Amino acid sequence: MKHAGKVVIITGAAQGLGLACAERFHADGANVVLVDVKADRGREHARRLGERAVWLEADLSACTADMAASIIAAAADAFGGVDVLINNAGVIHLDDFVDFPEEAFDWVQRINLKAPFLLGQAAARAMIAQGRGGSIINMSSINAILAIPNSVAYAVSKGGIKQLTAVMAVGLIPHNIRVNAIGPGTILTDMVKSSVMASEAQRQTILSRTPSGRCGEPSEIASVASFLASDDASYIVGQTIYPDGGRLILNYTVPVKD
Ligand SMILES: NC(=O)c1ccc[n+]([C@@H]2O[C@H](COP(=O)([O-])OP(=O)(O)OC[C@H]3O[C@@H](n4cnc5c(N)ncnc54)[C@H](O)[C@@H]3O)[C@@H](O)[C@H]2O)c1
Repeated sequence: MKHAGKVVIITGAAQGLGLACAERFHADGANVVLVDVKADRGREHARRLGERAVWLEADLSACTADMAASIIAAAADAFGGVDVLINNAGVIHLDDFVDFPEEAFDWVQRINLKAPFLLGQAAARAMIAQGRGGSIINMSSINAILAIPNSVAYAVSKGGIKQLTAVMAVGLIPHNIRVNAIGPGTILTDMVKSSVMASEAQRQTILSRTPSGRCGEPSEIASVASFLASDDASYIVGQTIYPDGGRLILNYTVPVKD
């Protein structure tokens, strides 16, 4: 199995892309640590996965350096170290630019950008001390590059993740820690169903800009994470990979089937 015996920490693992990553790495033989603010779901999924899975409750909107260190330490206590960190937890807030609330802007940055920074530092310290390298994967988005007028905080946080990934990557590769990011297109999770794809009109608009003609599946993001964390990706450093059904390369609109 591709990741047998590795210790993999995944934030935002109670549902959506984080849960798909937890399931994929578990199936690949890893020990998985599911971190989320949603206690019931996280606990239930860790129990369902079985003995190589543990659950940690954490509200990353209040993440500090101490909280980050304690999450990494808890993973090390459970399974004896940390090999992979997936900074996946994320939130979105939609409002027109001129009305966008300051507190919503800060809240999105704390969860989407500051927590990955602090967890990345804490994980890197542990990986350097272990001396066996590692992999850190940050969840970005096509919105690191594309603009939607009512999602300034989200786009800024994901653009920040792109550069956080690049700086971490060049800082950590001397320790054989590879840092990369994934920038998904539209994957039908709760976040998407309740925001950018909440109506039929929005669905048509998104599909008209998606050459694959469909949304992605969470497993199609988890498979990229599994690849990036593996030796098959040993020369990929500081990149953001965009599994987006062709969205970013598109310069026309696609006919939508009913
Ligand atoms: N679904 C997509 O199309 C898509 C596209 C691009 C990027 N992404 C990114 O992928 C990641 C996962 O998104 P998703 O679609 O699975 O969303 P989701 O809303 O289904 O899941 C997000 C998870 O993060 C957790 N979370 C939120 N706030 C938290 C907090 N304060 N502390 C701890 N955990 C918290 C939630 O409880 C949830 O389990 C996010 O970073 C998102 O920005 C998703």
